Parts: sequence; structure tokens; C-alpha cells
Amino acid sequence: MTVEELKKQLKLLGAEYAKIKTLPPEDRKTFGEEINKKKQALLKQIAEVEAAAESADITKIDLTAPFPVNAEYKTQKFGTKHPLSAEIDKIIDIYSHMGFNVIESRQLDDEFHMFDSLNFSKGHPARDGYDTFRTEEGFIPPAHTSTMQHRALKKYKKDLENGGNIAVVIPGRVFRNEDVDATHEHTFYQCEGVFVSKTATLGQMLGVLKHFFEVYYGEKLRIKTQPGYFPFTEPSLEILIEKPKSLGGKGDGWLELLGGGMIHPNVLKAAGIDPTKYKGFAWGGGIERLVMMKYKLNDIRYFESGKLDFLEEF
Ligand code: DAH
Repeated sequence: MTVEELKKQLKLLGAEYAKIKTLPPEDRKTFGEEINKKKQALLKQIAEVEAAAESADITKIDLTAPFPVNAEYKTQKFGTKHPLSAEIDKIIDIYSHMGFNVIESRQLDDEFHMFDSLNFSKGHPARDGYDTFRTEEGFIPPAHTSTMQHRALKKYKKDLENGGNIAVVIPGRVFRNEDVDATHEHTFYQCEGVFVSKTATLGQMLGVLKHFFEVYYGEKLRIKTQPGYFPFTEPSLEILIEKPKSLGGKGDGWLELLGGGMIHPNVLKAAGIDPTKYKGFAWGGGIERLVMMKYKLNDIRYFESGKLDFLEEF
């Protein structure tokens, strides 16, 4: 019997009490005792049923059952690495195998690292070409990973002095005040590369990059350059790769993926490296484009969207 049914009986019993008055006085005592007994029995039963229901709740959880206990747990979702983080790991891996060190870029920088240390003269129009954000205090969320070149040169300068080279790649998040559409984001990722030695050449740079792209896309491909302009390299190049055949390339489509060149002597000098003794090359470019092409994605905005159905595909 349920608690509700028992309580109903208890109520009916209450109505029985009223009958006492109608009985002859000699019968009233026995009648009253009788009803009282029934009442006590009912109260006891109610207490028992309630206690049983309570303990049943606790024993629903079987602590000895193997995990997952029930369907509720089976539908639980576990997070995964963001596709960009996963690709950046792969990129770093390829460069590490070639002997490059890795340092991470930062998300807040200053005028000196964004422009001055990179040989942008004061008031040079190229300073306007980067759609740079600025905080009220004048800090700059970096518009490219080249802001790290000066730090990287200084950090590894001692390797040069000890007869070695500087070889470092710098992945990082960058920000530009751009109108957002399927191919433009205000927040995206770049990877920078810096190499300095006594004998660095552009040929070496192109060898490094060709190898990088071939490993990243898993096939042989051609690479070519065209003239470019950056204040921090001389000469400056734009670097293009042949669209990989596995992604529909037929040997005639070229994709411009990187900027690069020989590090300008003023950039070396600013970091305390003698440009008459040492030469360097540097390059940099966006990461999303590489990844979008690899996975045939058509909208850059997915990366920063936090959309689960996109993220779950990786
Ligand atoms: N920072 C440049 C950009 O975002 C790309 C670049 C060009 C990087 C030349 C370099 C370089 O290191 O040498 O457009």
C-alpha cells in the first residue's frame, strides 16, 4: 500500500471517533481503545513505507557497477584539441625535425616590436598597412608574428657567438582591424621563421619552405617567388606553392602563402647582431589558409566561432 492510501485510511479512522458519542457509555472505552490500536498500526505502517522509499533512493546507485553506470553517462562528451592547435602542433613538429627552436608569440605588444625594431621608419606609410588595433594605453595586439623577431634574435644571439646559428619558428595569434568575411578574420594565427648564420642564403630559405610544404601536404610540389615589399627584409619576396594535387591542383594553380626575404641589416643591428658578419632570412604567413586548404574548408570564421558541430568534425 502506498503512503497516500494509508493516510486516507487514517483520515477515515478520524471519522470513526465521532461515533463514540452515539454509543452507550459502557461500550465507549473498548471502542476507543480499538480505534486507537488501529491508528497506531497505521502510523507505524506509514513510517515503514516512507523509510523504505527513502532507502530505495539511495540503493539506486550501485557503487560496484562498472563505469559508465547508465545511458546518461554514455552520452557525455569529452573535449578535443581545437583543430588549429592540432595543426600548429604538426607545423612545429615539421620545423623541429629540421632543427628549429620554437617560441610562442604574445597577445599584447608595443610600438617598438611592431614597427621600430622591424625597420619601419617613423611616419612610414607601411605602418598603416597592418590595420593595427591599439589599446587606450598605446599597446598593440600584434598584427603579425614578426613582432617577435627582435626578441628571438636577442634570445638566441649567444648561439651565434658560440659558433652556431639562430633557427627559430614562432607560432602565434595575431589581430587586425579588418572587415570579417569568409576569407578574412580580425583574429587569426601566423607562423614566423627566423634563421641567422654566417652564410645564410635565400636558396636555403626556399629549401626549408619547400620541404615544410611537402611534409605538411604529404606530396612533392613546386614553390616559386615573386617580388614583394616589407621594410624588414631586403630583398623581400612573396612565396607561392603549387596547389597540391591531392587537393585538386593540376600544376597550374599557384597559391601565395608567405612573405619572406633576407633580414634587413637594420633589424639585425637593432638586436645587436653585426650585419657585416652575419646574414639571416625570415618568413611568415597565416596558418588558417594552410588548414582550410588541407581540409577543404570554405569559411575562416568557423575557427573562432566555438561551433561544436564544426569542432566535432576534427
Ligand atoms: N609579417 C608579414 C605579414 O604579416 C609576413 C612576413 C614577411 C614575415 C616577410 C617575415 C618576413 O618574417 O621576412 O604580412
